[in-house]
Amino acid sequence: MKTIAVVHAAQLVTPVDVIADGGMLIRDGKIDIVASSDKIDINGAEVIDARGKVVLPGFVDAHTHLVFAGNRLDDFERRARGESYEQIAKAGGGIWSTVEKTRAASDVDLAKQAKKHADWFLKCGTTTVEAKSGYGLTTADELKILRVMKQIETPLEIVPTFLGAHAIPKNQTPDEYVDLVVNEMLPRVAEEKLAEFCDVFCERGYFSAEQARRVLSVAKELGLKLRGHVDQLSNSRGAQLMAELGATTADHLEKTDERGIAALKCANVQPVLLPGSVYALGSTSYPRAREMIDAGLDVVLATDFNPGSSPTCSMSMVLSLACTQMKMSPMEAIKAATINAARSLDRHGTVGSLERGKLANFCVFDCADYREIAYWFGAMLPSAVYVRGELIKT
Ligand code: NIG
Ligand code: FE
Repeated sequence: MKTIAVVHAAQLVTPVDVIADGGMLIRDGKIDIVASSDKIDINGAEVIDARGKVVLPGFVDAHTHLVFAGNRLDDFERRARGESYEQIAKAGGGIWSTVEKTRAASDVDLAKQAKKHADWFLKCGTTTVEAKSGYGLTTADELKILRVMKQIETPLEIVPTFLGAHAIPKNQTPDEYVDLVVNEMLPRVAEEKLAEFCDVFCERGYFSAEQARRVLSVAKELGLKLRGHVDQLSNSRGAQLMAELGATTADHLEKTDERGIAALKCANVQPVLLPGSVYALGSTSYPRAREMIDAGLDVVLATDFNPGSSPTCSMSMVLSLACTQMKMSPMEAIKAATINAARSLDRHGTVGSLERGKLANFCVFDCADYREIAYWFGAMLPSAVYVRGELIKT
């Protein structure tokens, strides 16, 4: 049995508490004791001296599109010339262009690219991600993406979500495609246990509230839990829809108003906010995080890592955006990216905080105050990342 003692952290951020001169005893990959350093018995343990450093749980990123082929550099340059996300999609860029590349890639090739993305996440201090399909849009290609998630050789924990209803294929009407999603894709996904959650992109030009309701209702009957891309570019009362369906999360919410926020609160749906996508799309329409927190919602922050609207794995960048653009406090932001995010993935029993019995997934930052992680924006990488007590080398 391997024992590791982390001692003398300037701050050990659990994040329920901040322990000055903090320490942790880890046995066999799990946290046994969290306390101030003088209470940690280092006898017989491998010692990690965290003097002058901040220790916090590995980030939990509850909204990513981890598996896709290629990039969207042309969209990026077009946006710099002033074209909008919707204009670019109409002109042959957008989600559809990633679908074409993803369909053309073999599963081996996709797994290779996804492994590279997984390494980026680990480097940034993220040890658990939710990952969505959605760049296949045929039964075979959606299943291929979900199977790839299980093949990636990585210490990163991956929680799979089926997002077949991400865009409408060119050769089908929206209703024909929704039929395919509910009659063919969802039963296969459920039967083969390829996903824990089902998601839908509810937006004009993508799936209407009615179509989203249909997909998510069938998913729920099949035993999947629900998440949803709602109210991102326009307010289509997506927050209310997710509340009505008893979803676990409602994601994006850039255009959600006070009525949407009240509905989320009533139905206990967690908001997942994605400021990276607002930033990368060059918009200023950040979601109303303060009102959500003041309403008593357990807000989650995530990267929305994807090649189109949010090409970043960096949770520290997201923390910075949350503090500067959404007026969250540094501690609110850290909780949103760890303990609240873990709850939204039903992983709060094992990850998301440094507590006895949980996995020893943690990162070490070379700074003495946790607020620095959000403050020195664009440059803050952990100096070490551990999963189940093992140092990760990427
Ligand atoms: O979360 N909004 C829809 N889906 C993604 C974007 C995907 C893409 O552009 O490839 C998002 O922003
Ligand atoms: Fe997304």
